[in-house]
Amino acid sequence: METKIDGTKKEQEKAIEYYDKISGIYDFISNWYYKNARKYAIEKLKIVKGQTVLNLPCGTGVNFKHFQKYLKNSGLIIGIDLSKGMLEQAERKTKKNGWMNIDLVLENATKIDQIWFEEYSKSNEQNKVDAVFCDLGLSGLPEWQNIIDNMISILEPNGRIVILDWYLEKSSPLAKFVKWIGKGEVDRPLWQYLKTKVSDFELEKFGFFDGIFVVSGTKKGIKPAGNNVYKSLGEW
Ligand SMILES: C[S@@+](CC[C@H](N)C(=O)[O-])C[C@H]1O[C@@H](n2cnc3c(N)ncnc32)[C@H](O)[C@@H]1O
Repeated sequence: METKIDGTKKEQEKAIEYYDKISGIYDFISNWYYKNARKYAIEKLKIVKGQTVLNLPCGTGVNFKHFQKYLKNSGLIIGIDLSKGMLEQAERKTKKNGWMNIDLVLENATKIDQIWFEEYSKSNEQNKVDAVFCDLGLSGLPEWQNIIDNMISILEPNGRIVILDWYLEKSSPLAKFVKWIGKGEVDRPLWQYLKTKVSDFELEKFGFFDGIFVVSGTKKGIKPAGNNVYKSLGEW
């Protein structure tokens, strides 16, 4: 039986096939339209040298050069995507630029949770994520609420999470076009959901009809005096 959670398995497979096919030209379509939103979103991650940034889905790695402005080849960028074609483009960029701090992972976003990260940490000597960027993914991914919850669970307390995506009236011509080209939805209450989960919540809109939003927030958490163990407020 097919699972019907925000789209069938078949719809997901079709979307990945589509991204595999367009991976070679994706950057031409994507780069210019999201330029301002992307710049703002990445500033909101508040990345500093040596930190770990998780980008889900990372696609062709369009963000990497912007992350590197802050990281300067230090720390770690974990780029996760389910399309082999998109990841090949990301790998090409990584090699071309001589970046040494990028780890590309072919995985389904629905599998990225705390348990996945514990396993990942064992083989990568990596035990923290300081910032999570979900750009133009959650509108098309299944189980998007779980994915947001899992991203927050992986984040360090006081870590930053930023989402860049679409929110439009479904019936408008622009909405129909965005749905067709992006193979996702356009009216999921993504930012409304994030708002209930983080502190320092901020929302900014971009593009025609303010259709693109960037939301950012900080994982709630406190650092107990005298040691390095952080706990999220909910655990106390
Ligand atoms: C519109 S692109 C966005 C890529 C990149 N974040 C950007 O802003 O350019 C959507 C991406 O989601 C990926 N994707 C779709 N379903 C996925 C899944 N279940 N798990 C991981 N990645 C997925 C696609 O392969 C594609 O690279």
